[in-house]
Amino acid sequence: MVKGILYCGGPSVGLRDWLVAYYSGANFSSSWPQLDDRQVIGTYRGRTAVALACRLLGIGPGHEVLVPAYNCGTELDAILHSGAGIVGYQVSRRCEVALEDLVVKRTRRTRAVYLIHYFGWEQPMQELRRWCDEQGLLLIEDCALALFSSGPLGGIGRTGDAAIFSLPKTLGCCYGGLLSLAKSRLVEDPVLSPAGYSAMVKELQHSGRPLVWKGLKRLGLYGSLLSVRHGIRRDRHSCGPSVAFPPMPDDYYFQPETDADRALHHRVCTMAGTHPWQETVRHRRNNYLRLANALQGLSGVKPLYERLPDGVCPLSFPVLVSERDACVEALQSKGIAALPWWAGFHRNGIDWSQFPDACWLKHNMVTLPVHQGVDDQHLAYVAEISAQVLKSSGARSRASQPPVYL
Ligand SMILES: Cc1ncc(COP(=O)(O)O)c(C=O)c1O
Repeated sequence: MVKGILYCGGPSVGLRDWLVAYYSGANFSSSWPQLDDRQVIGTYRGRTAVALACRLLGIGPGHEVLVPAYNCGTELDAILHSGAGIVGYQVSRRCEVALEDLVVKRTRRTRAVYLIHYFGWEQPMQELRRWCDEQGLLLIEDCALALFSSGPLGGIGRTGDAAIFSLPKTLGCCYGGLLSLAKSRLVEDPVLSPAGYSAMVKELQHSGRPLVWKGLKRLGLYGSLLSVRHGIRRDRHSCGPSVAFPPMPDDYYFQPETDADRALHHRVCTMAGTHPWQETVRHRRNNYLRLANALQGLSGVKPLYERLPDGVCPLSFPVLVSERDACVEALQSKGIAALPWWAGFHRNGIDWSQFPDACWLKHNMVTLPVHQGVDDQHLAYVAEISAQVLKSSGARSRASQPPVYL
């Protein structure tokens, strides 16, 4: 049993890693298997890569892109920025693409299929590629949650005409995206504006934050400051009745003036190039399996995935709960970066009432941290607290009515 509250935040880039990056000329594109044999363009953010993919592939006004109904919303907004329309397709409660719904949703205007590899697990690429080829459609893979992951045929993200990546989710920086294009889609490297000095200032501030929390922990102040912060947040968020489709945060929307046509910061590029990715995959997989073991068989705990296939680099440990907000609150109050995954809804383009399974995922998913910064002691703590919280939430929800969310 772990004593006291531990700091278990999200992944972050250490200040030392930035220093190493400063002196290194490393470049990731030659060493990451997911980028093998592709044209790679570094972009300011993942959403920049989505918008650029649309532009370079000729997707625009008059076109439709088929998009998965279970989504972050940021990627939808970047597609909408191209002028194309979006048409949602069904995703099951196990995060599987419903191929039969793609067939139904295809129209004369359909130009591309956009798909997401959720949490590092690969979608059925051979079937999707075959169908897109038969239909003359472009295929865009969203690997924002699948950096360093591979499937039976190798690195994820090499089947589509384009694939996009978001570096912060796995590496813990603030900004960074990649667009990779298939050989058949090679283009002249686009001219992008530099990310700028302020992006680096933000990165260093972001990297310093965990050090502050850990310093407070050493001084014995972490627990009390966390509960003050938590109390303020709870007051701020407890002001209204729960709604079926709460809006996604404003900063998830695409801001053309800052997000469009901007390059990856060169320091983020070298930091990524020096990142020990094989070590990260191994660490995340170990943590995932240990957490799965610790939570196995507990009533009220339902992991999204039953297995961790070879090659998957899990973004986090996604678990389905019936009292999402209460669970997240309880976990965060103990210093654990549990997230109500994609709880917000994009305001345009999708009629959410047509997608009950995707809405169910949005309402019931919590993710637990398993990233490379979670060491043995912290993982034991995450496992112990998560087991307590999820078990008691399961018991409460069995005793009460289930929530009515579509
Ligand atoms: C599935 C998915 N695609 C794309 C993005 C965009 O990435 P970024 O935040 O780096 O712009 C996000 C996150 O916001 C995402 O969750």
